[in-house]
Amino acid sequence: MTEIFWAELKEKLQSMPTEKDHPFRYATLGTVGLETMPRLRTIVIREVSKDLTLTFYTDKRSKKIMHIKENNRVSLLFYDHKNLLQLKVEGIANIVSDEALLREYWKNIHPKSQKDYTTRSAPGSDISNPDNVEYLQEGNHFCMVRVVPYKIEYLKLKRPNHLRISFSREEGDWYGEFLVP
Ligand SMILES: Cc1cc2nc3c(=O)[nH]c(=O)nc-3n(C[C@H](O)[C@H](O)[C@H](O)COP(=O)(O)O)c2cc1C
Repeated sequence: MTEIFWAELKEKLQSMPTEKDHPFRYATLGTVGLETMPRLRTIVIREVSKDLTLTFYTDKRSKKIMHIKENNRVSLLFYDHKNLLQLKVEGIANIVSDEALLREYWKNIHPKSQKDYTTRSAPGSDISNPDNVEYLQEGNHFCMVRVVPYKIEYLKLKRPNHLRISFSREEGDWYGEFLVP
C-alpha cells in the first residue's frame, strides 16, 4: 500500500533537476564530523539518478567535505511548502575523485558560477573586506558529491490523518512501512 507514495516521492525527486522552481531544488545537508557537532547548510541538488543518487557541487576545501571524509553518513532534508511534504533522506556520501569526469562537468558550468570554486583562500577563511575576494586565474577547487540514500522518510501533513512512511533500501530494493505521524 505504500507503493503509490513511493511512486510520488520518486517522481518528485527525479523531476527536480529539470524544473527550475522545483521545491526540492534546495536541500539542507546535515553532516557530523569528528567533533560530533551536527552542521547544516543549504545546497543545490544538481542531479537525481534512476536509483535516487543525489548529486551536489561544492568546493573541495569546504567544511562539509572535511566532515564527509571523517564520516560519510549524511542527511538531506527537503520541504515542499505548498504540499506540506517533507522528505528526510539518509545516505552515504561519496566524493567524486574521477578527474576526467570532474573536468567534463566543470566545462558545463556557467563561467559566472565557476567563479564560486576559484577563491584564492578557502571558503570560510577570514577576510577584512567582503569586496576583496581574490580569485585564481587558473585551476579550481570544484568537486562533486554523490549521496546514495539508504533510508527516506516521507511525511505529509493533511487532515484527518497525517501520513508518515519510512522507506528503506535493502539489497537494492526499497520497502515502505507506515509510521505513526
Ligand atoms: C541558496 C543557496 C544555495 C547554496 N548552494 C550551495 C551548493 O550547491 N554547494 C555548496 O557547497 N554550498 C552552497 N551554498 C552555501 C552553503 O549553504 C554553505 O554556506 C557553504 O557551502 C559552506 O558550508 P560548510 O562550511 O558547512 O561546508 C548555498 C547557499 C545558499 C544560500
